[in-house]
Amino acid sequence: MSEPIVKYRDVHKSFGDVKVLKGINLDIYPAEKIAVIGPSGSGKTTIIRMLMTLEEPTSGDIIVDGTNLWKMEKNGKMHRANEKHLREVRGDIGMVFQHFNLFPHMTILDNCMSAPIHVKKESKNEVRKRAIEMLERVGLGDKLDNYPSQLSGGQKQRVAMARALVMRPKIMLFDEVTSALDPELVGEVLEVIRDIAKNDDMAMVLVTHEMDFALDIADKVLFLDEGVIAEQGTASEVIEHSDNERLQSFLHRFRKV
Ligand SMILES: Nc1ncnc2c1ncn2[C@@H]1O[C@H](COP(=O)(O)OP(=O)(O)OP(=O)(O)O)[C@@H](O)[C@H]1O
Ligand SMILES: [Mg+2]
Repeated sequence: MSEPIVKYRDVHKSFGDVKVLKGINLDIYPAEKIAVIGPSGSGKTTIIRMLMTLEEPTSGDIIVDGTNLWKMEKNGKMHRANEKHLREVRGDIGMVFQHFNLFPHMTILDNCMSAPIHVKKESKNEVRKRAIEMLERVGLGDKLDNYPSQLSGGQKQRVAMARALVMRPKIMLFDEVTSALDPELVGEVLEVIRDIAKNDDMAMVLVTHEMDFALDIADKVLFLDEGVIAEQGTASEVIEHSDNERLQSFLHRFRKV
């Protein structure tokens, strides 16, 4: 068995006096697809934002590819990581947000080219080729010169996915990427994620309320409850066969009758 690409070790997070995560231990293996489910406020977003370096843990360690993400060694002691260290270690991690965060004044092609050129300093021609390829992959090959305002919500979210893919991450994080969409647009976005999940060897962590989708694509499902991983296992074990009462009542609220 290969080594985990990410390890959370006893990770805690508080906001002021509020303890949001209370000892998270989690291994993410290369190519593994993990769905994170749980009630509102249970800490799902916080777990993945810490890996994206958008939120700093209060204590504990997150190890990415063998390197401590939030700490670095200096003169034999561990110190808080600096910006350069954070940037380097999260270089292989991409994230798609609930709200797409596209640049409104750029075409969708330019949106997808901006980070590899300006952050990774890659050559424009190479990035352009890859950006077009990814936009074709998400079904937007005919919209390269459009601006975000000319697209539907589902299309914008697919641009956001193409933009993350152009960076060739080893790990992609998805935070409820369909929950801001009109119901009729959800399917097209899930279809693109399903395609990526089935055909790509990236690790993926998806916070989602789409249980059927999780059953379909996830190797592992985590049920987060009040800041702890209260249940984890295969999708079928967690979603279909767990007798955890809080999980049952959570699932009950989402099950379509
Ligand atoms: N920047 C912040 N400052 C203060 N409190 C925060 C901050 N971010 C999150 N919290 C609190 O931490 C808790 C967990 O938030 P988080 O966003 O991780 O939950 P979630 O499981 O993603 O919920 P949802 O399903 O509603 O998105 C919540 O009580 C939230 O209010
Ligand atoms: Mg959230």
